[in-house]
Amino acid sequence: MSLVPHRIALRGHVVSCRLDPRLFPSNEAVIDIDDGLVVVEDGVIAAVGPYDSTRLSVDSTTHVAHYPGSLISPGFVDAHVHYAQTPMIASHGTTLLDWLTRYTFPNEERFSDVAYARGVAKFFFDELLRNGTTSVLAFCTVFRESTDAFFEEASRRNMRVIGGKVLMDRNAPPTLSDTVQSGYDDSKALIERWHGKGRLRYAITPRFAPTSSEGQLRSAATLWREFPTCVVHSHVSENLDEVNWVRTLFPHRSGYLDVYDDAGLLGRGSVLAHGVHLTSDELDRVAETSTSLAHCPTSNTFLGSGLFSFDRVNAARQHIDVGLGTDIGAGTSFSLLATMAEAYKVAALTESSMDAYELFYLATLGGARALGIGEFVGSLEVGKEADFVVLDPRSSPLLAYRSERVSSTEEQLFVLAMMGDYRSVAATYIAGELSYERSVASSE
Ligand code: GUN
Ligand code: ZN
Repeated sequence: MSLVPHRIALRGHVVSCRLDPRLFPSNEAVIDIDDGLVVVEDGVIAAVGPYDSTRLSVDSTTHVAHYPGSLISPGFVDAHVHYAQTPMIASHGTTLLDWLTRYTFPNEERFSDVAYARGVAKFFFDELLRNGTTSVLAFCTVFRESTDAFFEEASRRNMRVIGGKVLMDRNAPPTLSDTVQSGYDDSKALIERWHGKGRLRYAITPRFAPTSSEGQLRSAATLWREFPTCVVHSHVSENLDEVNWVRTLFPHRSGYLDVYDDAGLLGRGSVLAHGVHLTSDELDRVAETSTSLAHCPTSNTFLGSGLFSFDRVNAARQHIDVGLGTDIGAGTSFSLLATMAEAYKVAALTESSMDAYELFYLATLGGARALGIGEFVGSLEVGKEADFVVLDPRSSPLLAYRSERVSSTEEQLFVLAMMGDYRSVAATYIAGELSYERSVASSE
């Protein structure tokens, strides 16, 4: 290690949440500096402030990357994604359970081939960076090797990600099934290999209640007690046929959430995707146990699963941490901007509304908190890791035209969320290193 700190700085319009805009007024919740400077030292944010005053803290040798007219934001956090489903994104015409048998399982069978898994992992991480996503919570597949491929690629890029091997011991093709014992052993071996290595964390990953026996769910909870800093990651109440199926598979439980509750899989550090059809009592229980939810709007509309209601989530007796997930490959875009747009539309269809800062929070600090990594990433604050996305509001003729007419940062963010995509990402930084830069050609 060099004794001289490695220092860089980014200049532009700095915008970041530091509190939840659902709970605090935006002038307290949002950092908004028109001409700002973010100074990074050895991968960590050392200063953030107005350019005029903050530039005094950098010497003339520090490289300042200047992005005039662009927003410097914390990198996006994808709170629920399946890296292995990248090759089957946009598979046509069906609903969850049929989609799983028709497309998902045959696709995931290919991941026993580690070379194939490595190729998909490489494309997946390239695509994350192209979209300004710097952290994810990801499903791999049932195969250990597919999980190694995921972590190897993340490690090479020094990204703060969480992932895990899928657990499935029933209602799945034999080629994709493990057992209570092999699922436990393989997960434990992967935890010992990857959890806490650099910026990586492991997620114990029972796919969903229909594909795990009660024994496997309990074994997953045992593993979580042995490794309590791991995340638990699963799906819940996404689709009504699924909810009814769980009722027949677990007749002694009071409902879908109770299956996980009884097994010991709820609590801080547990992240459940969807929750579209959770009842008010179940949402109260999610809140009471400090379990997090991942809202996946492009997936829910694509599979016709239903409309997630923030009003119902906000009505729970206590606060629920919610992140925003692309849920690739049921979701239709890697872009958290596009996912914000769909979240807005889903809220509109539930006769509700979300403002730009609420959407932006979900894709950054809200997601980081939901995944338990909010102390490291998700906002532009001194001491946090320097993962950034630089957003260009002129990345298409229409965006440029509309952006010339905005009168506030909030309006600019809203316009970007509604119409932006990967072309709006001018650059992505991981731990202070430029990891992706849009070529001029792709911005046209
Ligand atoms: N429920 C169980 N498995 C899956 C999956 O792969 N995708 C989605 N969207 N829901 C699931
Ligand atoms: Zn999913």
